Amino acid sequence: MAIFFEEDKKLFHLTALNTSYVFQILDAGEVVHRYWGRKYTGNICELMLKDFESRAFSPEHREGVSLDLLLQEYPSSQYGDFREPAYEIVATDGSMMSLLKYKSHRIVQGKAKLEELPATYSDDENDVQTLYLILVDEVIGLEIELQYSVFERKNAITRSVRFINRGDDDIDLQRAFSMSIDFDHSDFKLLHLAGAWARERSIIVEDLEPGIKSIQSRRGASSHQHNPFMALINKNTTEDNGDVFGFSFVYSGNFLAQAEVDQFDKTRVQMGVNPSSFSWLLESGEEFQTPEVVMVYSCSGLGGMSRTYHDLYRENLCRGWYKDKVRPVLANSWEAMYFDFTSDDIVAFAKSAGELGIELVVMDDGWFGKRDQKLLARDVPSSSLGDWYVNSNKIPEGIAELAKKVQQQGVGFGIWFEPEMVSPDSDLFRLHPDWCIQVEGRSMCLSRGQHILDLTRKDVCDYIVKIVSDVLGSGLVSYVKWDMNRNMSNIGSKALPKKRQREVPHRYILGLYSVLERLITAFPNVLFEGCAGGGGRFDPGMLQYMPQLWTSDNTDAISRIGIQIGTSVVYPSIVMGCHVSDVPNHQTGRVTSLKFRGDVAMMGNLGYELDLQKISGEKRKEIKEQIRFYKDIRETVQFGDMYWLGDTDYGKVIGVQYISKDKKNVLVFIYEPFENPNLSTKMVKLKGLNSKATYLLLASNVMTSAQQLMDVGLEVKIPAIDSSMFLQLEMIY
Ligand code: DGJ
Repeated sequence: MAIFFEEDKKLFHLTALNTSYVFQILDAGEVVHRYWGRKYTGNICELMLKDFESRAFSPEHREGVSLDLLLQEYPSSQYGDFREPAYEIVATDGSMMSLLKYKSHRIVQGKAKLEELPATYSDDENDVQTLYLILVDEVIGLEIELQYSVFERKNAITRSVRFINRGDDDIDLQRAFSMSIDFDHSDFKLLHLAGAWARERSIIVEDLEPGIKSIQSRRGASSHQHNPFMALINKNTTEDNGDVFGFSFVYSGNFLAQAEVDQFDKTRVQMGVNPSSFSWLLESGEEFQTPEVVMVYSCSGLGGMSRTYHDLYRENLCRGWYKDKVRPVLANSWEAMYFDFTSDDIVAFAKSAGELGIELVVMDDGWFGKRDQKLLARDVPSSSLGDWYVNSNKIPEGIAELAKKVQQQGVGFGIWFEPEMVSPDSDLFRLHPDWCIQVEGRSMCLSRGQHILDLTRKDVCDYIVKIVSDVLGSGLVSYVKWDMNRNMSNIGSKALPKKRQREVPHRYILGLYSVLERLITAFPNVLFEGCAGGGGRFDPGMLQYMPQLWTSDNTDAISRIGIQIGTSVVYPSIVMGCHVSDVPNHQTGRVTSLKFRGDVAMMGNLGYELDLQKISGEKRKEIKEQIRFYKDIRETVQFGDMYWLGDTDYGKVIGVQYISKDKKNVLVFIYEPFENPNLSTKMVKLKGLNSKATYLLLASNVMTSAQQLMDVGLEVKIPAIDSSMFLQLEMIY
């Protein structure tokens, strides 16, 4: 049992591995938050705070009780709580007041799917328990179901909310967060992941002060700029010790995450669909389901939180055939050839890749858009999207024949699509100008020369499923790179009535999820890798459909260390696409050694994105050896536990350790990103070893006790030239 209800005190106690989450129903039906943190085994009554106090300027909604002062589970608006509400409505009389009271609850074993939305799941009912807490606003007939699922063995609790209009009149939902929680202090730092295109997910740590700190996306995608994740960490928390409260949103569209410190130094954390550019009309009997937030508690520092997310997302979010499989080493044509290739080039690329031990070749952008002389070929980024006809000048034999030729080289064949988009100069746009996101009477903004198709429409979704299925139908394509290269502006849909125009961004994401669900169901053995100009939609929502995401368009190894370390705060190595590219690097102009580039790319799913035929002699041998080595270690990287090594300050990581779940195989990756010469030897303390065991360092054949490796450290000297090294250890007894 993970969820207990104490009837007499009306207390709910949610317990996962090392954590307790407690809330209580007051006599008048308010739901007050009591505790979240280290597992609580004492008398739960001791947790009860004084709820009833009067304060100046805090209105009382009933005698002696002000919502402004209560720690709440899902705060409403306009009843005297001046902090941020979790939801907002406008009733048909124009009023905005709403107050919730407990009505009933049920506790069930397992976790139901969220309608139309990705969410964590478990194949084993015994792993997870769910509480449905039903609250009502009787005046307007609004019912709200707070959904809590507890992963008993993982320190993870998920939250989401369902709104049901049980009244006769419309309710206009203006805000519908997926969760809200009040902490009784503000002695926290806020950690989040911010950046931009080609420099995604830097770790930002800042103090909380009175007022609101928020991160958000209003771009129609989760965005390069802010990942849908934030954590509160205690001020003395380090990588390995102390409390962390993580919040990660299983959603790929506009979001808002905020932490508000109030006048009494209490902290309210909320996360959900961004209320900006959102509202949802609930007609009588209609429902609205919010996406899910995954809340993780760690008493073993930031690393403890990361490993919980890694396990949960690998085991309880990703799906499909590839979920438990090591991922193929791939070669991608983009930085090797850009738009300038023919099928002969792809076959030669595949031959070269196969000789090196590469397992899959991906034909990236540029293969389509020319059915006849009238149509432009896809030779520049601003043309041809929507015209998914094979360019017969480049690929006269067609995709299926090309795939066969590639497979004859001993490698699988993968292909690039950007199906959510359309170029203005395309057959598709000329035929269906109404199929784009647009506002009547206003010009449409272009970005990368393209418009966004209106995925709120069923006909558009059907079209996308068809064009992708037509290519995958041959059964010869084993991988799809699903790209998306612009953010949403001029938001509107020709298919929706006026009163539902603010539903467009959320309906778009629902449309996208429905398309992906249909495709992965029809083609269960195809590996889908999500991409949005690199990491512009690197979020848990996409992971449910695509167990691999292209981490960043920046392939520079030095930049990549920061991006991959930031990404690893939430996401496991197995989902990160990481490629070795050419030097000087195409994004930064920087030159790094092949060894360094290879080592950095081994932090995730290794791939190559450079002209392989150009590489000969020693370099070719080196790549072959990199691939051989990676195949030897990839199971540990992709399925093991990850620890940051080095200082306890977040982000000041000197290396990364991977250890298999049975603790037998250990990999230590150490780097010096600034390529400083004359470095001294470092003692690097390993983590998470089997403390009673002895390990063999393969490079030197030296045996060392786990205790020594963890307490004293492993002596490491980073080579001045290559600036990085992988060390392998094996448990021997
Ligand atoms: C953006 C992607 O992130 C790149 O890897 C590449 O696929 C290009 N799009 C192709 O246009």
